[in-house]
Amino acid sequence: MGNLWSGRFDVAPDAEVFDFGKSLDVDRRLVDDDITGSCAWVQALASAGVLTPDDTEAIVSGLEEVRAAVRADPTLLDRADDEDVHAFVERELVARIGDTGKRLHTGRSRNEQVSVDFRLYLRRRIPVLQQALVSLVEAMVTQAELAGQATMPSYTHLRRAQPVLVAHVWLSYAAALRRDWDRLETARHEADVMPLGSGAIAGTSYAIDTEFLARTLGFSRVTLNSIDTSGDRDFVASFLYACAMCMTRLSRLAEDVILFTSEEFGFFELADAVATGSSLMPQKKNPDPMELVRGKAGRAIGVLSGWLATMKGLPLGYNKDLQEDKALAFSAEDDLAGCLMTCSAVVRTLTPRTAVMRAAASGLLLATEVADYLVGRGLPFRAAHEVSGKIARDLYENGRDFSALTLEDWQRYHTLFDEGVFAAITPEAAVGARLTPQSTGPSQVAAALALTREWIEEMRN
Ligand code: ARG
Repeated sequence: MGNLWSGRFDVAPDAEVFDFGKSLDVDRRLVDDDITGSCAWVQALASAGVLTPDDTEAIVSGLEEVRAAVRADPTLLDRADDEDVHAFVERELVARIGDTGKRLHTGRSRNEQVSVDFRLYLRRRIPVLQQALVSLVEAMVTQAELAGQATMPSYTHLRRAQPVLVAHVWLSYAAALRRDWDRLETARHEADVMPLGSGAIAGTSYAIDTEFLARTLGFSRVTLNSIDTSGDRDFVASFLYACAMCMTRLSRLAEDVILFTSEEFGFFELADAVATGSSLMPQKKNPDPMELVRGKAGRAIGVLSGWLATMKGLPLGYNKDLQEDKALAFSAEDDLAGCLMTCSAVVRTLTPRTAVMRAAASGLLLATEVADYLVGRGLPFRAAHEVSGKIARDLYENGRDFSALTLEDWQRYHTLFDEGVFAAITPEAAVGARLTPQSTGPSQVAAALALTREWIEEMRN
């Protein structure tokens, strides 16, 4: 039996080489989108007067039969031996409605067909990832609410920096994840262009109403140039970038969870259900799922750079190299979905160790507060920094912190210190003194929490 292009050749293709070029195992995920695109194409051919109403009706209902058959029994695809998903659909169609089915591909090329399929696919799958992202933001909000007014150290250079509300830390991830959501939205917008009418490369000679096709398929616009369209997979690169960036985020989150739940930090307890044990060391409770998230981020970056490398040397127009896009995009999609789910499950079930975090936020990292205290009493900041630094060094050398100082001790460093110093140099006072909208001040954090909740509601609808 012939394949989609056998007319041009005298001999059957080399079986092994033909198998090498097959993509059905991968592009079978596009089967629904392929049928959707073909139904619209047939309508456009009918409007152009290329197909009779009877043929049009027969092909569309035949395609819908194929769609229903695959939905009812996906193993239909396991058993198929076609070159790709387009060949599969066409063969199944002809098997159902006979020779009329052979009119489907009139005026169309697989180059534009795979483009429309993949654009339709990403347009409906990206929102699924976005919803998983919203669930993770919700897990952050759950932790932020659970934390209440609890404090913990923030870090720069992985050294204790300043006290912050624990809620502020969770909302910092939420803020970043919202950028990841936007990045996926940008990729979705880029995929949202209708390529049909481009033909193999030069366009089509039938009077195809591309605006009608865009409307029917729900695209917001039509591609601008047939040559550009046939070789354009920028939208795939944008999707892979959005995935890689989000995976990079999840990797950093995973690293923080691994650190904060370690014996050394002890800020949070990992739920047993999302931890793993050791076959040898009975005391161990390992954060394997978080390590796997961190590990998979490496792959996501590899997929993006691999795809850019594939595209960089291609001459204008369609080249078969482009077929590689789908395996990469599907693996990025699956990994991101799995990692978002895992991170949500882990974050949602963390138990905060409030006392440990407060103790860690109470030490010498209050030195900025000491300096600010003197500034409040008229000392220039540089001089105040000097005094505070001197106190911190003395305390550090004696293994003590600010809470060990009596009023006389304070005043030996500077006469501007008075009784007020005891109430001012605590994690709560430090946090309470922050005033800017993006700061860790309790009312600012409460407002940010409310806005994040609103965002979640908006995204859910
Ligand atoms: N399987 C191909 C792809 O994914 C479809 C387009 C094939 N076109 C061609 N001329 N070989 O890119």
